[in-house]
Amino acid sequence: MQDGKKILLCVTGSIAAYKSVVLLRFLIKQKAEVKVIMTNAATDFVTPLTFSTLSKNKVLTNLFENDSWENHVMLGRWADAIIIAPASCNTISKMAHGLCDNLLLAVYLSATASVIIAPAMDEDMWNHPATINNIQTLEERGHHVLKVNNGELASGLHGMGRMAEPEEILSFLDNFFENKMSLKGKKALVTAGPTYEAIDPVRFIGNHSSGKMGTALAKELAKRGAEVRLILGPTSTSVPEGVTVTNVVSADDMYKAVFDVFDECDIIVMAAAVADFTPNKPAKNKIKKETGALNISLAKTKDILVKAGELKSQNQILVGFALETENEKQNALKKLTAKKADMIVLNSLNDEGAGFGSSTNKITIFEKNGAEHVFDKKSKEEVAVDIVNAIVNYRNE
Ligand code: CTP
Repeated sequence: MQDGKKILLCVTGSIAAYKSVVLLRFLIKQKAEVKVIMTNAATDFVTPLTFSTLSKNKVLTNLFENDSWENHVMLGRWADAIIIAPASCNTISKMAHGLCDNLLLAVYLSATASVIIAPAMDEDMWNHPATINNIQTLEERGHHVLKVNNGELASGLHGMGRMAEPEEILSFLDNFFENKMSLKGKKALVTAGPTYEAIDPVRFIGNHSSGKMGTALAKELAKRGAEVRLILGPTSTSVPEGVTVTNVVSADDMYKAVFDVFDECDIIVMAAAVADFTPNKPAKNKIKKETGALNISLAKTKDILVKAGELKSQNQILVGFALETENEKQNALKKLTAKKADMIVLNSLNDEGAGFGSSTNKITIFEKNGAEHVFDKKSKEEVAVDIVNAIVNYRNE
């Protein structure tokens, strides 16, 4: 139910604009407070009067009107959710590229609310590589892009590209608001990225982890209302908003940062690719090549997940990852038991589109209670949603 929810409905130029009238009616019936923004192109399809009558609010179209300026920053902050329905190919492209030539885009660029996009366009436009890239960019930003339907299109052709039906958008919103705050009051800890183990002041032993999976998880946990601390190894991946970050370099730094806060956390997700070995005695000064052949003696690092499994209380949920190249399931299950985790997320380097550097991942989740969930290859943001759903369900069992 949308009772009391503040929704900014943004309508762009597409024949599907008529469906947004129905969506608005549903939202108002469910006692949501709705403000409507229309692009100029949208007003060619449906009149602003229809939306203003139903929403009981003035419809906003321009950044300036006579002498007054529309406060786009406050509009984006006012809303609990911004729904762009229909989102035309043109508006999707402008959003992906950060253009700002109308009120809708100015609101989008200054918004702090969650963004939900219901695309509508012809099938060829929908399948164009430019659109595919734009949609991927928007999903990577954490926006929710609703599925398009197959059916009759404005061109008269049949195919993919029809905007989701108002009922489907409404049901998405129901789930969205229910999920959104499901972790309110909970504290989550996420480790992400690689660790660098110093050989000397300029060289290190590291790995290819980008930290993308862990940061996507931190973002998703924060979206659901959790207070999130991300312990992040050296990476250029950008840090999600609303997440407190502790930057670390080595496995030992990460170990200390985790156990500084471990006791107060309800959910602990270890997505970092922690180095298993570290040079015994890093050289104080740069090692010169005249030294000749170099043998570095390595010591095992402390396993953070193992320690967390030992210390974990009944009320804490501990999630580990397993990156495998062979005997995947067997190795993942071994880690689940040996490290006393509640769940292990397996990704195999043998699966195309999984693992380091990639923007996608393909996972299987193994739970302590024997459950096994296999997922398709998805963007790391979508994978984060699946993992957090599994955590929420596990908590509720
Ligand atoms: N992990 C950890 N501390 C370490 C090593 C690993 O906390 N020193 C955690 C990782 O964050 C991950 C899980 O343990 O959640 C499994 O990591 P992985 O690299 O797949 O396995 P390892 O335990 O290192 O074993 P191996 O390299 O032999 O597969």
